[in-house]
Amino acid sequence: APVTVKKICCIGAGYVGGPTCAVIALRCPHIQVTIVDLNQARIDAWNSADFAIPIYEPGLVDVVKQARGHNLFFSTDVDRAIQEADLIFVSVNTPTKKSGVGAGFAADLNYVESATRRIAAVATSSKIVVEKSTVPCRTAESMRTILEANSKAGCRFDILSNPEFLAEGTAIQDLFSPDRVLIGSLQTEEGKSACQSLAAVYANWVPKERILTVGLWSSELSKLAANAMLAQRISSINALSAICEATGANIDEVAHAVGRDSRVGPKFLRASVGFGGSCFQKDILNLVYLSESLHLPEVAAYWRQVVTMNEYQKRRFSKTVVDTLFNTITGKNIAVLGFAFKADTGDTRESPAITLVRDFLQERARVTIYDPQVEAAQIWLDLSEAMPNVPLEQIQKQVTLAPTALEASKNSEAVVIATEWNEFREIDWTAIYNTMEKPAFVFDGRMILNADELRKIGFKVTTIGRGE
Ligand code: NAD
Ligand code: UGA
Repeated sequence: APVTVKKICCIGAGYVGGPTCAVIALRCPHIQVTIVDLNQARIDAWNSADFAIPIYEPGLVDVVKQARGHNLFFSTDVDRAIQEADLIFVSVNTPTKKSGVGAGFAADLNYVESATRRIAAVATSSKIVVEKSTVPCRTAESMRTILEANSKAGCRFDILSNPEFLAEGTAIQDLFSPDRVLIGSLQTEEGKSACQSLAAVYANWVPKERILTVGLWSSELSKLAANAMLAQRISSINALSAICEATGANIDEVAHAVGRDSRVGPKFLRASVGFGGSCFQKDILNLVYLSESLHLPEVAAYWRQVVTMNEYQKRRFSKTVVDTLFNTITGKNIAVLGFAFKADTGDTRESPAITLVRDFLQERARVTIYDPQVEAAQIWLDLSEAMPNVPLEQIQKQVTLAPTALEASKNSEAVVIATEWNEFREIDWTAIYNTMEKPAFVFDGRMILNADELRKIGFKVTTIGRGE
């Protein structure tokens, strides 16, 4: 019979482990949830008296306030949490490998493996181990081999795959009412029974018909497939945006017309300066690597093109800025509004803004950045990593961080919208215009501004995907 889950441990207190397990705790008051991490500073932040939690995510702090100290705990005592739990989520990072075999493509599974080895080393009773991290197809098999080779007598481990589909900025909403919860298991008696135990946890708030149970490998592959197909939609619309700019068509109108076909659907067709975020590129490269390993070079090339198009879109946008500013931005002040990879997050991983700022600096422009959430230290770190050969002091001579959009725009020749923060729609554009050099240029990389209104003020406006 399926085990009734009473205690959950989540290894990894990041963007996925934190919100996911905080919501489980809130929705399942009868389950004790302990989220553990090796990073002491991160755990201290989750535990801070003033709820200065380490992630900016709308609604998250309220969830933590309601559950922390009741049935939700954050700790660095990984071993104890493993020992006490019936079910363990492995929610650690799986970045792209930086060196060795598959460098630049394959997922680095080192963190998943250490967490798995830790479970095997300290567990004194049977566990359901759940892959929450995004991993290559058949990782569950490796985890099972490690666990079985190192387990104590009488301990059995059932492995499940339960990939996470939340998007940053809407994580809490996504977790409260997911389109679906996907659970993969071996199709054995034990596998199915473990699957039912986890399904019963979700059934506390997710309608049964939204809980999909499939085989392990399908579950692992579905996660990579979902991200690849979402990113592919963006690259498709961005490819069309280049045609629009060259022809006078308008990508908003094209996307609307295409999206009205119920087979295509209207969502996720916003042309942009390029997609960012920690996962789309990583997961597609992972799929490319998988395809190559399986001797499917045409399949690999197909998915790789989604990333190539995204690189092109970013490059094309910075070139538009330079071309429009009379073919040189050397010594000019450019205000970049937004640095996060999307609105409503402080996360900058793979943010297109990083690439834009790097391109502008390489043209020897001066750049002023404003973002409502991203911390200064993070911006310096991202720019240093993007330009490993340039000392930080040099970068800091060319880049200024501003406390408001208006401050950032002062004396600039151009304002570039890199993130779709709502506040950029609402700022006083006349005030911005008055502080800028003339002619005053606006480059809307996110299609959020009313170009006609801005032109009335006097701006020269360039919007992605719109030919004049
Ligand atoms: P993250 O870097 O924010 O968090 C991972 C955490 O795991 C870190 O705090 C790290 O210290 C901790 N950790 C690593 N090894 C550990 C170990 N052995 N023991 C204890 N703690 C350990 O990463 P994230 O954004 O939460 O992503 C986690 C996984 O979820 C990745 O596989 C990612 O692809 C996937 N995912 C992410 C998102 C997202 O929106 N960020 C969405 C869906 C899936
Ligand atoms: C994405 C997926 O949407 C989640 O389902 C998935 O769980 C997650 O990746 C993951 O595996 O990490 P996320 O990256 O947080 O979530 O955010 P998205 O809303 O998907 O946006 C990704 C990027 O695409 C952002 O830079 C966004 O600005 C851009 N985007 C999105 C567009 O350019 N156009 C669109 O129409 C939509």
